[in-house]
Amino acid sequence: MSNQNTVAQTESAPWARYADLKDKVVVITGGASGIGFSMAQAFAYNGAKLALVDIDANALAKARDTLLGEYPQMAVAVYTCAVNDQAGVQNVFAQVQNSWGRVDVLLNNAGISMNTPTLELSGDDWRRAMDINVNGVFYCAQEAARCMVEQKQGVILNMSSMYGVVAAPQRAAYCASKAAVAMLTKVLANEWGEHGLRVNAIAPGYVRTALVDDLVARGRMDLDALTARTPSRRLGTPEEIAALAIFMASEQAAFMNGHVAVADGGWSAYSYI
Ligand SMILES: NC(=O)c1ccc[n+]([C@@H]2O[C@H](COP(=O)([O-])OP(=O)(O)OC[C@H]3O[C@@H](n4cnc5c(N)ncnc54)[C@H](O)[C@@H]3O)[C@@H](O)[C@H]2O)c1
Repeated sequence: MSNQNTVAQTESAPWARYADLKDKVVVITGGASGIGFSMAQAFAYNGAKLALVDIDANALAKARDTLLGEYPQMAVAVYTCAVNDQAGVQNVFAQVQNSWGRVDVLLNNAGISMNTPTLELSGDDWRRAMDINVNGVFYCAQEAARCMVEQKQGVILNMSSMYGVVAAPQRAAYCASKAAVAMLTKVLANEWGEHGLRVNAIAPGYVRTALVDDLVARGRMDLDALTARTPSRRLGTPEEIAALAIFMASEQAAFMNGHVAVADGGWSAYSYI
């Protein structure tokens, strides 16, 4: 995990401040590490109240301690829950509403990678990727929207991937699941826009997190080749994706709805050799 819950965010934090995010109730799935934790830091920097949802109870506790170390006055609650457990998700949103009375922003971020030759991909693995990456996003979006439609206001940001936009071999389940997230985003934006909700997606390229480090360690990913293939000649950072998330959640992006924002250093724009 690249940021290890330890990146100190002070006044030199790499993020903009958006006044309208202050005191917003923000639910972040997969918020204990990686991009999710960076987003937690960026929203905390902006004065939001955070509900972090993750399957990893230890990482959640560490994330909460780190955030409170950086922002002692902030409100942060943690929930150990798998996003693909629909009853668990319903329970989490009920608790958040009980505590804070509303849900302003959902960062539907939890997800897993799956990088396997398709002929070797088991049905169980395929179903697992779909269950976490697609069903989990749907369950959380639905529960968040139940609050948001009533409030006539809310922002949902779903985590797709550049591999939901362009294809790659050996990633059938991952690409299909992230493409489903991109399309689900557009459907929900169509359906809930009239209720005052905005539903958008972020589609990152390679970002240096535990997910990527794990693929590198298992020999499923070649960092040098990735760097050379990327027009910006580097991987992204979790902080850069968090910067995009706070912008897209803020009033500065008030007319952005149904959009899939690719942030990939130019990867998906490149098609030469
Ligand atoms: N890292 C990248 O290069 C990259 C690129 C494109 C998209 N993404 C997407 O960004 C999201 C975050 O990726 P990351 O790199 O930070 O991953 P990560 O593995 O570093 O963190 C993911 C977090 O989600 C949690 N999680 C996993 N399954 C869960 C479940 N069923 N319910 C609740 N929490 C669960 C994990 O415990 C972990 O804390 C994922 O959806 C991923 O597909 C990542």
